[in-house]
Amino acid sequence: MKILITGATGYLGSRLTQRLQQEGHVLVLLVREPKAILSASFANMTIHKGDITDPASIAKAMEGCTHVYHTAAVAKYQSSGMDRFYEVNVTGTRNILEAAMRFNIQKLVFTSSAAVFGPSLDIPLTEKDPRIESFESDYDFSKHLAGNLVREFVQKGLNAVIVNPSRVFGPGPATYSNGVTRMIRYLLTKKILFIPEIGAYRSNYSFIEDVVDGHVLAMQKGKAGESYILGGENISYAELFNSVAGYSSSKCRLIKIPVDIIKGAAHFTSLFNRNTELTASLITRFAKHRMLNSRKAISELGYRITPFQEGLHLTIDYLKNYAP
Ligand SMILES: NC(=O)c1ccc[n+]([C@@H]2O[C@H](COP(=O)([O-])OP(=O)(O)OC[C@H]3O[C@@H](n4cnc5c(N)ncnc54)[C@H](OP(=O)(O)O)[C@@H]3O)[C@@H](O)[C@H]2O)c1
Repeated sequence: MKILITGATGYLGSRLTQRLQQEGHVLVLLVREPKAILSASFANMTIHKGDITDPASIAKAMEGCTHVYHTAAVAKYQSSGMDRFYEVNVTGTRNILEAAMRFNIQKLVFTSSAAVFGPSLDIPLTEKDPRIESFESDYDFSKHLAGNLVREFVQKGLNAVIVNPSRVFGPGPATYSNGVTRMIRYLLTKKILFIPEIGAYRSNYSFIEDVVDGHVLAMQKGKAGESYILGGENISYAELFNSVAGYSSSKCRLIKIPVDIIKGAAHFTSLFNRNTELTASLITRFAKHRMLNSRKAISELGYRITPFQEGLHLTIDYLKNYAP
């Protein structure tokens, strides 16, 4: 097996790279900035500087590979606009799929997102359930379009599988997309925190090690054209905030603010700070159930879920003792 990985400098891709390296695979990494590779060892690893929007750089990296993990994406809820999401997440994925056909790749795993399934009612969603709302962000829509492309290429003969992680948390670089871990760190250090009154809504949180395992299992056992939710437990925000607060040495006091007031404040802030992460649309996104059911991945791939409290404990241990 000679494996090409895209997104190896990211939160998920860096852990996947580490895991595949530990298993002794020969790896080829396609990255925009080779210096950003976080690896203790570069054994059995070739690094190609490139970009998934540049087909020539993909061809150089993919030639001679047998398998591909395509994790690279603009993984943000907001960006400079749909054009950037489309260019990287959709056209970039098309470039990877076309190269995979050209180089007779034996199997490809595409990292989508559970965001493509949207919010839920009070029953966890499966891969088969229809969306109950239209797409809420350009990111979600771009991941949906990229998934459609993967299915289109499967029809043309490509052996490709889609995995849909939920909100991933756990040890690893504090990139934008590692938002849950950053929020945990924030809760651990603050004495007082104003939070929207969303305590009753339940969301799905997947532990990074489970999601990495899920990728490896999808490569081994996933069926072409199928999607697999890689989730964790469905936890209410109240349980999440209170569990983290329980670990905090500063005993953070949580002050709940009605959702409409905090949305108004976020909107006001965004008028002056275009880079603010807490936007009104993000709060709207939080004020919904997002429950998921991972039983397909469990039964067909052998996927396993780390209990939320155990994942949280490991994450907090990492944040307190090892995080930069
Ligand atoms: N984190 C989550 O909670 C979560 C949940 C569901 C799905 N996902 C999906 O998981 C995948 C990995 O996400 P992540 O959390 O690891 O995000 P991340 O930390 O932001 O990493 C994104 C990776 O994509 C690379 N990338 C972006 N644009 C690129 C381009 N034009 N060409 C080549 N590489 C490019 C980035 O490279 P640079 O370092 O050069 O920017 C980085 O390595 C994404 O597909 C995301 O949609 C993540």
